[in-house]
Amino acid sequence: MPRVIDLRSDTVTQPTPGMRKAIAEAVVGDEQKREDPSVLELERRVAELLGQEAAVFVPTATMANQIALKLHSRPGDVLLAEEHSHVVVYEYGGAAAHAGLMTRVLAGNGGRLSGDQVREAAAPSSKVADQRAAVLSLEDTHNNAGGRVWPLAELEGVVSAAREAGLAVHLDGARILNAAAAQRVAPAEIAGRFDTATICLSKGLGCPLGALLAGSRELIDRAWREKHLFGGAMRQAGIVAAAGVYALDHHVERLADDNARARRLAEGLVAAGLPVDLERVETNFVQLDVSLLGLDRADALARLAEAGVGLSSTIHPTVVRAVTHLDVTDEDVDRALELIPAALGAGIASV
Ligand SMILES: Cc1ncc(COP(=O)(O)O)c(C=O)c1O
Repeated sequence: MPRVIDLRSDTVTQPTPGMRKAIAEAVVGDEQKREDPSVLELERRVAELLGQEAAVFVPTATMANQIALKLHSRPGDVLLAEEHSHVVVYEYGGAAAHAGLMTRVLAGNGGRLSGDQVREAAAPSSKVADQRAAVLSLEDTHNNAGGRVWPLAELEGVVSAAREAGLAVHLDGARILNAAAAQRVAPAEIAGRFDTATICLSKGLGCPLGALLAGSRELIDRAWREKHLFGGAMRQAGIVAAAGVYALDHHVERLADDNARARRLAEGLVAAGLPVDLERVETNFVQLDVSLLGLDRADALARLAEAGVGLSSTIHPTVVRAVTHLDVTDEDVDRALELIPAALGAGIASV
């Protein structure tokens, strides 16, 4: 039986043989005492990659984001974030629970905000004079927008607007390397503009787990205390960090291939008559609105699973997505281009 082509997310990857070897041979120490050489190396490498002074290794990108929000605020402050961003939708109200932040969501355009929106939202309210917008969190690539990328000039406009309004700026760059690959810029060009930036190891980079928060030396020293409070200070964490170092050496260049495969998949699906908006395919996500095929989402996903190809739901009730990653080959894309139209084909007739 042919294997299932798993396009649900780039989080489903298995460590490669090379990565498993790096894990097996990792030199480790007590990370909580800052004695793990593999963790220290990973932190140094990521800080450099993201154009920041320092970085701290944590188990998940959610924890990295949550620590960042705490660093930039006091309880009762306001977080500004795009309405469908990960910190708003998927972090279980962590901004309120951990940092005591009130979140003000702003309507995005492809996951992006404008400088005017930020200026308006950051302006002091005459009614509630004490309410202080303290931090703006942006996401690049933007997951719920379908892996959309921030053009650098637009990003700069929003970051400057936030700074002029006295806000700290955080980047949820879980997939920043896909953005950098799409724009053919160094990741530091994007992340270096922010006070803090998160990067995730367990998405396009293909590691089993792990994330880092990067920022100034002073902020990352403070982040260490928060990491302890979150229960995220570890022991021989180099076992995992070694996978991260391996991924930086072997899995960064290839992210352009994931983006290119998503593009080819999207174009093939359009050629087969399926409703994919090619303008929105900028990195490794392909979104498909199944309502335009007369299908509901659960039915579409069930048909696809039955055919041997895994897609997943999105925050948008009628949109499903396919995500390319380390374990998706050119042949998988060819096969997906046969399976997906065939599985959804009955829907086309009913439109
Ligand atoms: C944009 C974004 N930020 C943060 C995260 C959180 O990552 P983790 O599952 O490592 O906490 C995700 C995970 O999907 C994400 O897509």
